[in-house]
Amino acid sequence: MANAEPTTPDTLPAWQALLRHAERHRATHLKTLFARDCQGKRFAHFSRRVAGLTLDLSKQRWDEPTLAQLLALARQAGVADAIDGLLSGRRVNQSEDRPALHTALRLPADATLSVDGEDVVAAVHQSLAQMETLVKRLHAGQWRGATGKPIKRVINLGVGGSDLGPQMVAHALADFRPDDIHPLKVHFASTMDGSQLADYLGRLDPETTLFVLSSKSFTTVDTLSNAGTARDWLLSRLARKGATSIRPELVIRQHFIGVSASPEKMTDWGIAPAHQLRFWEWVGGRYSLWGTIGLPIALVIGMANFRRLLAGAHALDEHFASAPLADNAPVMLALAGIWNVNFLDIRAHSILPYDGRLEYFSAYLEQLEMESNGKSVTRDGASAGYSTCPVLWGQLGPNAQHAFYQLLHQGTQPVVCDFIAPLSRYDGVSDPDTRRLLQSQHRLTLANCFAQSRLLMLGDEAIADDAPRPAHKRYRGNQPSTTVLLDRLTPETLGSLIALYEHKVFVQATIWDINPFDQWGVELGKQIAGQTQRILEGDAAPDGMDPSTRGLMEAFWQLGRK
Ligand code: F6P
Repeated sequence: MANAEPTTPDTLPAWQALLRHAERHRATHLKTLFARDCQGKRFAHFSRRVAGLTLDLSKQRWDEPTLAQLLALARQAGVADAIDGLLSGRRVNQSEDRPALHTALRLPADATLSVDGEDVVAAVHQSLAQMETLVKRLHAGQWRGATGKPIKRVINLGVGGSDLGPQMVAHALADFRPDDIHPLKVHFASTMDGSQLADYLGRLDPETTLFVLSSKSFTTVDTLSNAGTARDWLLSRLARKGATSIRPELVIRQHFIGVSASPEKMTDWGIAPAHQLRFWEWVGGRYSLWGTIGLPIALVIGMANFRRLLAGAHALDEHFASAPLADNAPVMLALAGIWNVNFLDIRAHSILPYDGRLEYFSAYLEQLEMESNGKSVTRDGASAGYSTCPVLWGQLGPNAQHAFYQLLHQGTQPVVCDFIAPLSRYDGVSDPDTRRLLQSQHRLTLANCFAQSRLLMLGDEAIADDAPRPAHKRYRGNQPSTTVLLDRLTPETLGSLIALYEHKVFVQATIWDINPFDQWGVELGKQIAGQTQRILEGDAAPDGMDPSTRGLMEAFWQLGRK
């Protein structure tokens, strides 16, 4: 916080003013806010354009005085200074005493940024160049497995930030695959139960399969258990194919790439130094797709398109660094969230992309937002006496319409929704008839997207008839939403979209006075799981273990071990 006094955000004058404002404003229905807008300026006032994105915040339950007070809150909470600190490499991750420099991963090569005396930009571009060398070898069909056959399948083994971001982007941009590369399929396996991996192992050829072990820490049991299975599968299947004379070191060398912030641990595991891609402790796992953790993305879309993704994110970073708070898209998005959570008590947030290519976007955002801001302790270690991150969930909007929109329209929970869609789609389809058909489906999808946010806002008044409706057919409306439109889905606009949400999370964390870059809340579960595993495998259960867990273990001993 910039101010020494008062010390918590809820004692700031603007927070107090917002509480009073919310008292008066809470009962105002969204349709009333729109009805007051007789000059039709609401959209212009509450929407922003940046880097190929249009951000419409006019369907939020706020008005101009609300926004003015929220901007005052941002100023009083020191948002501008915090942005500067983030981008310049200040140690914003206090509990781990390090900067959070994901933005440095997308700085152009001619930029400089020094951290602890090292120019991180030079190091970043060196790591990208090393990644490019590996990508090119695989794309040229020059990477051969231990028996000499070219690699055709790559399986990324990672979890959390080492899986969700790369998978989301690789899926979203699959259409950008260059034509002139050796055909390569990229898959993802994350679950520690081995079920995703088992599926691939059942049908892939070990001679032409390469694994990428993606783990910042290189200690994550989920990834290491999958890695161990993959290694033993390769060794035993290659031996069965008659390749018994092949040394295990050669198999590991030719069938594994490691990506981690810990070169020592990669070496201990057996990854050849030439096949180790590095990154740094100052890149948070859920913010890491922009560097070497993005290897699967580059394998799908090529390095040139990967650099376009970085350029899109960098454009958003520059906007974040320089736009005044009132014009700053991530700041505006963050303030809408603060208003909903802390002043309108809306603590459920649904992410609804209207484009099948963004299928994994909500899963990615769940980690980005909830692992970053799901905190209740301030940066000084005090207990936060106000709400922080809402519960976030989502799926493709058109499918969700047939799943949980019933609750959005007629349930009892207030929910804020983010609708995300591209304006232009299928313009690259070469056959005119197919293009016409698909573009008509795109218009159908956009129509649904716009209609849903309108209905959520207005309720059944969206239908201009005066027909009386029984209670079960009424729609009360007043559910706020944000719409983010991409001009079209390209590497650049996707980069900007992700950076928009990353920075939104940071601004909210700044106002809530929490650290968005650590995740201590996941550590104890890992320890207890280790202890529990030892008990399941035969160690004595500690005295006083709770009867529920004991009962579950007994069920396993009776039935699960058979
Ligand atoms: O357990 C949570 C977490 O640490 C995430 O923050 C991280 O993205 C994920 O696990 C994977 O961690 P790693 O990349 O170190 O394997």
